[in-house]
Amino acid sequence: MSERKLKAVISDIHSNLEAIQAVLADIEQRGIKEIICLGDIIGYGANPRECIDLAKTFNVTILGNHDEAALWSDQTESFNPVAKDAVDWTRQMLEDPNESFSNTKRWDFLGELQRTYRDNSDLYVHGSPRRPVREYVFPEDIANKGKMDDIFGRVEHVCYIGHSHMPGVFTEDMTFRPPQEVFNQYEINSRKTIINVGSVGQPRDGDNRACYVVVDGNKVEFVRVAYDFDETMKKIYAVRELDNFLADRLAEGR
Ligand SMILES: [Fe+2]
Repeated sequence: MSERKLKAVISDIHSNLEAIQAVLADIEQRGIKEIICLGDIIGYGANPRECIDLAKTFNVTILGNHDEAALWSDQTESFNPVAKDAVDWTRQMLEDPNESFSNTKRWDFLGELQRTYRDNSDLYVHGSPRRPVREYVFPEDIANKGKMDDIFGRVEHVCYIGHSHMPGVFTEDMTFRPPQEVFNQYEINSRKTIINVGSVGQPRDGDNRACYVVVDGNKVEFVRVAYDFDETMKKIYAVRELDNFLADRLAEGR
């Protein structure tokens, strides 16, 4: 059982500055000092540089598939055209010669991101314990016993994930509970548990508010924070390379 420690676990910021600013204000207001980020700082949104600069202040940040794709362009094969165009544009922003000094530091930061982070019996990854950067663990995977058994086999006690942008709790008895089902609170017991912390910058569970979790000892709270997505949408519409759908979906949380 992990010691009592207050921390925020966030994921999938996706270059959404308004959402991460709102979440960081909420974290600060709660007096939380430790922030662990599960990756995908960039991709999709209009403020990659600003979001990387904020991520540098977190205690731990893990590599996500969009961060990886910005670093290595051959890692975009599995991306759909909209996601690929967004990554290519993000790379351009990080290659802007007018910001060469800051951009060098941003590339160094991205290049050094770890794929997993372990704290006692807790594991932190972007995707899954089996393939940390890219594999999805979707709610419907509870019907796939082979996959979930293999994944839980790599979890010592608790594993925090992001990537699908669908928050909730997976338990070894092939159950997935979205936050509404547990009234946003979940108490970790001795059984193996996988917590998807949801997405700060592009929620896809039908709630347009930014999502993250607060962990206080064994208590996990799913937190939603409203932010000015109109402003985020305007910025995305203004960039030709960013598909309008990337803005539209923010208003609906899909
Ligand atoms: Fe993501």
